[in-house]
Amino acid sequence: MKCLRAGTLNDLAPGTCISVDLDGKYGFALANLNGKIFALDNTCPHAGGPLGEGTLEGEHVICPWHGWKFHVQTGYRKSNPNEAWKVPTYETRVVDDIIQVVIPEAEQG
Ligand code: FES
Repeated sequence: MKCLRAGTLNDLAPGTCISVDLDGKYGFALANLNGKIFALDNTCPHAGGPLGEGTLEGEHVICPWHGWKFHVQTGYRKSNPNEAWKVPTYETRVVDDIIQVVIPEAEQG
């Protein structure tokens, strides 16, 4: 299992989301929902908008380009929750205030 350091809790206040690029090939949207950290693929399935540069509204990240909303835990689109518009999600860990994203073996290369 591969864990990538994605920042610290100081980088991600509750109620906010950010974009991070890791290892030169992984782009994530990180969201802090009431102190719990979620990670989604940063690329919006609509037209490629950077989800982490959007805003967090309740349990959804809002894409900054056209406003589509994705659930931070499941990755499903709020108004059309089918697989076609689902954003991949990733397990996260927080160790001593360091945020880590767990990369599945299938995506390591
Ligand atoms: S690119 Fe995200 S809503 Fe259009």
